[in-house]
Amino acid sequence: MTAETGTIKVGDTNFEAKVRAGSIGPSVIDIGALYGKTGMFTYDPGFTSTASCESQITYIDGDEGVLLHRGYPIEQLAENGDFLETCYLLLYGELPTAAQKADFDYRVTRHTMVHEQMARFFQGFRRDAHPMAVMVGSVGALSAFYHDSTDISDPHQRMIASMRMIAKIPTLAAMAFKYVAGQPFVYPQNSLDYTSNFLRMCFAVPCEEYKVNPILSRALDRIFILHADHEQNASTSTVRLAGSSGANPFACIAAGIACLWGPAHGGANEAALKMLTEIGSVDNIPKFVAKAKDKNDPFRLMGFGHRVYKNYDPRAKIMQKTCHEVLRELGIKDDPLLDVAVELERIALHDEYFIEKKLYPNIDFYSGITLKAMGFPTSMFTVLFAVARTVGWIAQWKEMIEDPHQKIGRPRQLYTGAPRRDYVPVSKR
Ligand code: SDX
Repeated sequence: MTAETGTIKVGDTNFEAKVRAGSIGPSVIDIGALYGKTGMFTYDPGFTSTASCESQITYIDGDEGVLLHRGYPIEQLAENGDFLETCYLLLYGELPTAAQKADFDYRVTRHTMVHEQMARFFQGFRRDAHPMAVMVGSVGALSAFYHDSTDISDPHQRMIASMRMIAKIPTLAAMAFKYVAGQPFVYPQNSLDYTSNFLRMCFAVPCEEYKVNPILSRALDRIFILHADHEQNASTSTVRLAGSSGANPFACIAAGIACLWGPAHGGANEAALKMLTEIGSVDNIPKFVAKAKDKNDPFRLMGFGHRVYKNYDPRAKIMQKTCHEVLRELGIKDDPLLDVAVELERIALHDEYFIEKKLYPNIDFYSGITLKAMGFPTSMFTVLFAVARTVGWIAQWKEMIEDPHQKIGRPRQLYTGAPRRDYVPVSKR
């Protein structure tokens, strides 16, 4: 990387900062020594202008609507490969040969079962628990079952934990779905591919044969690819920060799931579908668009806007195409929610407010309609996001742990509270 320098001048203090260029995208100003040299911190709540790490996994160009995984465009990965191929790419940095892919598929497949006592662990949850609450609890509990892969200093244990996480997350997600539905758990089937296995664990019942629909399985597999990783988003940053203290990978992924649940992040797919349902018909759209534009109204168009994309989210385009594919396969001719979504998108993209603020549909805008059509309840939408994002969290966690310069993340603050003052006895208050 090329290194120039820049000067940060504050009062009569000059701070010489090294400027580092990446392979593509914005350069960074290395301010690591700023506090030591100037006694001042930078201030950037929300990290709108802050690079928290160096990474080689995912690159996003928000202005151009570009998303690359290890240099490969998301459109090409979604079109040509399957989810486990993307998992291999994110973890190892290169697309697998046929032999490497077969070996990786074999290894993942044989880690899909969970410890039988996990089934009893689920019994502690209320049946009406939100599946994301069950996921936070059950994934966090994995560290109580797999002690032999929690020593993060051992590369072999790191890889085993990574494979276990990627392989078991669909099984736990399906168990959360079944538990809340009051149906018996379905064991993984080694003869099925990753996503077909997941569909069968979700929708099979003991009373009849379950046949996986290959079109739906391919569509969901592609949806998993779209959600696999996304640079330093909130949940990935949570996983990195948790991992920086040396916490075990299962606990770190549980932290990532907890963060993803928020409606501003992964919870937006559930919130977007609820919003479309609340809008109900095309005639009501103007009223909701006006609410979204009203500074005094906290309402936002869910599934719209993005911290990085100031252009169309490339994943949203593929998501929209997949949505039509699934509805066509299921013979759903006129889905009122889709009509509302398409018209809402059209209106918003021509509205001055959305144009000026560069608000476009993001990945969550069309995913809910697709997943609902496939038979998933809205409460499972963010769980599906977590299933896919687990490989991204694991790849980023692994990259952080293997970074020789890695240290515990510990930001500072701008303190605006009370200066030092002495204690006042209660008799004198
Ligand atoms: C994901 O980071 C990632 O990469 C996330 C993700 C991933 O793969 O990991 O891509 C997945 O989380 C996608 C985003 C899902 N969230 C939503 O769809 C929720 C609705 N969107 C907004 O909450 C918002 O757009 C965020 C949270 C996504 C981004 O918020 P920012 O970057 O902090 O932007 P902002 O809140 O500062 O908004 C800028 C302006 C504001 O107006 P002003 O105060 O400048 O006047 O745009 C407005 C906002 O009020 N605005 C919206 C809006 N989003 C932003 N107005 C109406 N509707 C919206 N959806």
